[in-house]
Amino acid sequence: MYNLLKGKKGIIFGALDENSIAWKVAERAHEEGAIFVLTNAPIAMRMGEINELAKKTGSEIIPADATSMEDLENLVDKSIEILGGKIDFVLHSIGMSINVRKGKHYTNSNYDFTHKGFDVSALSFHRVMNVLYNKKAMNSWGSIVALTYMAAQRVFPDYNDMADNKAYLESIARSFGYFFGRDHKVRVNTISQSPTQTRAGSGVKGFSGFLNYAEKMSPLGNASALDCADYTVVMFSDLTKMVTLQNLMHDGGFSNMGISDVIMEDFIDNTER
Ligand SMILES: NC(=O)c1ccc[n+]([C@@H]2O[C@H](COP(=O)([O-])OP(=O)(O)OC[C@H]3O[C@@H](n4cnc5c(N)ncnc54)[C@H](O)[C@@H]3O)[C@@H](O)[C@H]2O)c1
Repeated sequence: MYNLLKGKKGIIFGALDENSIAWKVAERAHEEGAIFVLTNAPIAMRMGEINELAKKTGSEIIPADATSMEDLENLVDKSIEILGGKIDFVLHSIGMSINVRKGKHYTNSNYDFTHKGFDVSALSFHRVMNVLYNKKAMNSWGSIVALTYMAAQRVFPDYNDMADNKAYLESIARSFGYFFGRDHKVRVNTISQSPTQTRAGSGVKGFSGFLNYAEKMSPLGNASALDCADYTVVMFSDLTKMVTLQNLMHDGGFSNMGISDVIMEDFIDNTER
């Protein structure tokens, strides 16, 4: 390992089980010398798997519902206390759509579900940054990253209202990132990750289709959760100090593809072969 995060202090949201992208980020950040607090919604704690990660990485866990300002204020205050100083990096790795979970079609959304999903998946990022900004909780040259998906820019029908949530999330990164950069020299970016087999990912209808299609379209294939963790660690490190307000594609090249040979194969008329 490279000691990329030696001495850095962080907060990592969203490690649910060992498949979670946030779980891999925590493992990699630990290997790179960081200390951090793990947090997740109180309800997610019941499964208890996060305790294993905490033990492995020598971290404390502070439950926080990312839609509650009270929880987030408590989280940030306690984290500074536990870590013995201000925060250098934050990972927002949170997503949830009740419309997706309940199989509600996009054209027939339940708007209570839409509101809740938006609050959890998108507005929570604003809330987290609001608390960090107003408490002046981040060190200069700190780094805040949220995870997103390319359905924010392009149509993936079964991604449902999560597409809209991701578009909003990416916009918050730019809008809040401006003030965070100007006032506190903190950078804010989103990483747009390949489809990845996790609890949240697998909830999307026809997920194997997403996954296999992207794999065949991308010159490098799909990026794994571990690959994503590596990239996130670089974004937390001092090697990327001047990168901010960006939506960073981490997808094996998928987002710039038109068509690949492998996919083309399925559509060529026999007469042309
Ligand atoms: N899996 C994919 O294909 C994929 C692709 C691109 C981006 N992403 C994004 O990566 C992020 C992490 O998802 P994942 O794939 O690791 O799945 P995951 O299910 O492991 O993680 C989602 C996390 O959100 C947490 N969460 C839900 N409601 C919350 C709340 N109210 N307060 C705090 N936390 C809450 C869950 O407990 C869980 O830990 C999400 O933003 C997701 O949209 C995932």
